[in-house]
Amino acid sequence: MIRKPFGPTGVAVPVIGQGTWDIPESGSRRAESIRALRRGIELGMTHIDTAEMYGAGAAEEIVGEAVERVPRESLFITSKVLPENASYKGTIAACERTLKRLRTEYLDLYLLHWPGSHPIGETMRGLEELAAQGKTRYIGVSNFDVDELRDAQAQLRSAEIAANEIYYSPAERGPEARLIPYCREQRIAVIGYTPFGRGRVLRKGSRGEAALRSIAEKRGKTLRQVVLNFLTRDSDLFAIPKASNVAHIEENAGGAGWTLGEEDLAQIDAAFPMVEGPLASV
Ligand SMILES: NC(=O)c1ccc[n+]([C@@H]2O[C@H](COP(=O)([O-])OP(=O)(O)OC[C@H]3O[C@@H](n4cnc5c(N)ncnc54)[C@H](OP(=O)(O)O)[C@@H]3O)[C@@H](O)[C@H]2O)c1
Repeated sequence: MIRKPFGPTGVAVPVIGQGTWDIPESGSRRAESIRALRRGIELGMTHIDTAEMYGAGAAEEIVGEAVERVPRESLFITSKVLPENASYKGTIAACERTLKRLRTEYLDLYLLHWPGSHPIGETMRGLEELAAQGKTRYIGVSNFDVDELRDAQAQLRSAEIAANEIYYSPAERGPEARLIPYCREQRIAVIGYTPFGRGRVLRKGSRGEAALRSIAEKRGKTLRQVVLNFLTRDSDLFAIPKASNVAHIEENAGGAGWTLGEEDLAQIDAAFPMVEGPLASV
């Protein structure tokens, strides 16, 4: 898996990582998910995205189990604090619980999951304190539009926003209008979530699916590989598809390491036009 410099950090992060929302929490599907996460790591998808919200902590526990024999420094683990917990003290306490569930001493990236009611300055101080204590290497936000990012940045004293994790998919290209350019100018990495748009991208018989199919056939790739390649086409864009079995992981890993041509990009633009609007979430 190819890697790219991640925001202001100087760290090279795999362009395609692994999401963990809705990961099966019990039985044989849980075991298969763990095998899938490990296979992803073998393939270089070492950026693992989780959150205290996912399965009320169960996803973090599964990640902890999946990575227990993997050298910690080879991983890039992201987790997120729920807005309701994101007071100064609450942010620190939530991170400590997350570290226990993940069985690790530190996170690589800790994000505020979405803007909430605690004053953003308090959350940023909590995140900065965690970074100062070495409990997270980098800090950031998720689901933040430009104005919210500016407010968060204005509160920071000792750290920078390294990343903004947002809904970004061929079916949701709104962030290309203002948010992605702002992040680019500020050297904030953009982590795109829900690349397959919960059924909106690969809908059978749709114009979008037909366009992806023709590109995939021409390139000898799958439709999902075309989607992931498209979403990571620029130097500051990262994707975190979630997959719960080895075959899906292997397919997704093939989304990087090759380049779509101008004609392919024009076909995608025509089939999935960019519509500017407020930042969407799933
Ligand atoms: N920050 C936020 O607010 C936020 C919000 C949403 C998501 N996220 C993060 O982003 C990650 C990805 O988003 P998502 O889970 O919403 O959606 P997604 O990655 O677009 O789609 C996941 C779905 O696609 C299926 N899938 C994946 N690869 C496949 C393949 N190669 N072939 C067939 N099916 C495949 C998965 O099935 P299987 O599971 O059966 O493989 C699953 O049903 C999440 O897991 C989470 O970590 C963050």
